[in-house]
Amino acid sequence: MRTFAFGDRPDLHGQAEDIFSAGWPEFIFHDPVAERQMGRVRQWFGGLNLLLVDGEDQIVAGGWGVPMRWDGSLADLPGGYDESLVRAVALREADGQADTLVIAAAQVRGDLQGRGLAAEMLRILASAGERAGLERVIAPVRPALKARYPLTPMGQFMSWTRTDGAPLDPWLRTHQRMGARVLCAAERSMTMEGSVGDWQKWAGFALPASGSYVVPGALAPVVIDYERDEGVLVEPNVWVRHR
Ligand SMILES: CC(C)(COP(=O)(O)OP(=O)(O)OC[C@H]1O[C@@H](n2cnc3c(N)ncnc32)[C@H](O)[C@@H]1OP(=O)(O)O)[C@@H](O)C(=O)NCCC(=O)NCCS
Repeated sequence: MRTFAFGDRPDLHGQAEDIFSAGWPEFIFHDPVAERQMGRVRQWFGGLNLLLVDGEDQIVAGGWGVPMRWDGSLADLPGGYDESLVRAVALREADGQADTLVIAAAQVRGDLQGRGLAAEMLRILASAGERAGLERVIAPVRPALKARYPLTPMGQFMSWTRTDGAPLDPWLRTHQRMGARVLCAAERSMTMEGSVGDWQKWAGFALPASGSYVVPGALAPVVIDYERDEGVLVEPNVWVRHR
């Protein structure tokens, strides 16, 4: 298998679009803070946006991250995914020196999941970070199973274990198996916004009055406000630090 920077393989972009847009709820693509950063993230941090490709030019996995400055303390952690992108872009605009890789996302092709490829992708990203002088690696992890427990606080969910002591959540297990340590819940990692009509479309059912709703795929309840014609989902993640 070979690794390429996403930007170096425009011939694979169609394939990447098919693979990486699959399996996500539509609302995940409506995070205005992240959207505002994404152009500059792609332009400036392309060396940290990687594809893992097999011998037949088929994408196996992908992942990307951003370079940030972090002093190693809990107090200096960003709020989560959104704030990591904002801080990375601001640091670069100020010509600052980054020291930490924030792994923003990783995805394995659907038919290849469960074979340890995610760990391989995370290792490749961490190595790219190291080559770029980023000595620390952290990630706001979006636990795969949390959507089944949207009413449970993340602080509680992330402490749930199986009988063998490993995290209940499979994606947290992957990180932990690699030696990562859970730092804390990132209570406000991503914020997705839309009109009430947008949310009815994304949820696939009626949201007839203001209030909180459990929407499939969402890690927390969606708050609908008819007066503002607005729905907001603030998703928590889990901060982990890799060795
Ligand atoms: C999360 C993800 C990257 C994990 O990749 P992976 O290569 O399958 O990870 P692993 O092979 O290490 O599997 C981790 C665990 O999940 C389990 N698992 C993986 N895919 C699974 C599936 N489709 N159904 C059920 N369990 C699954 C594995 O059995 C393993 O469990 P174990 O600890 O008991 O062995 C991958 O599932 C994925 O791309 N998901 C969609 C995108 C996503 O959610 N990314 C994370 C947020 S950015």
